[in-house]
Amino acid sequence: MGTLHVLDHPLLQHKLSILRDKNTSVKEFRELVSEICTLMCYEATRDLPVEVVEVETPVAPAKVKKIAGKKLAVVPILRAGIGMVDGFLTLVPSAKVGHIGLYRDPDTLEPVEYYCKLPKDISDRDVYIVDPMLATGGSATAAVQFIKNYGSKHIKLLCILAAPEGIERVRKDHPDIDIYVAAVDDHLNNHGYIVPGLGDAGDRIFGTK
Ligand code: PRP
Ligand code: URA
Repeated sequence: MGTLHVLDHPLLQHKLSILRDKNTSVKEFRELVSEICTLMCYEATRDLPVEVVEVETPVAPAKVKKIAGKKLAVVPILRAGIGMVDGFLTLVPSAKVGHIGLYRDPDTLEPVEYYCKLPKDISDRDVYIVDPMLATGGSATAAVQFIKNYGSKHIKLLCILAAPEGIERVRKDHPDIDIYVAAVDDHLNNHGYIVPGLGDAGDRIFGTK
């Protein structure tokens, strides 16, 4: 069974508190989403395998650890997930980037696919799916399934905020994957919004409301 990681680092929690504030500007919201993703990436890559190699320091030879040849991909769920990509690439600049376009039908809350472009060798990569919001879990579970269909075996899901319903759905449909969140909120309202949440992440990142 994959693990649910609720990241309670004070820096993350502080940034999240500003993100939730309805008076936070689009500019600041966008910057914070990116910074939060950097911190989440740091935690989610904690288990990357390392190998010991030797380098010459100016003083003496030293045995040092390097990441052992892992290839990574970050896959945002469009559109709000785009806001997390740069933050991830800050720490893993060599990661390839795939895109999965999904939107929630406002009536059924079911995800509708409209775009999918993944690195050709996605099945050889450790895949980190990023999306700020895990609400009903429909979008995340569909995105994980797409990537599994391409043969990927190592998939992690990074969401800033989650509802208990979304976590339960992903863990039921994809019990093998690790989930990283900065907070688990109380519940979903009748429109499928996380309560208390932070509103519509895509609109707040892109200033479309
Ligand atoms: C939001 C969010 C997730 C999804 C979560 O996207 O970014 O992708 O909703 O909801 P779910 O867990 O119930 O599927 P939205 O569909 O609003 O599209 P957008 O990113 O284009 O705004
Ligand atoms: N998508 C959002 O952007 N916010 C929510 O609260 C739920 C889904």
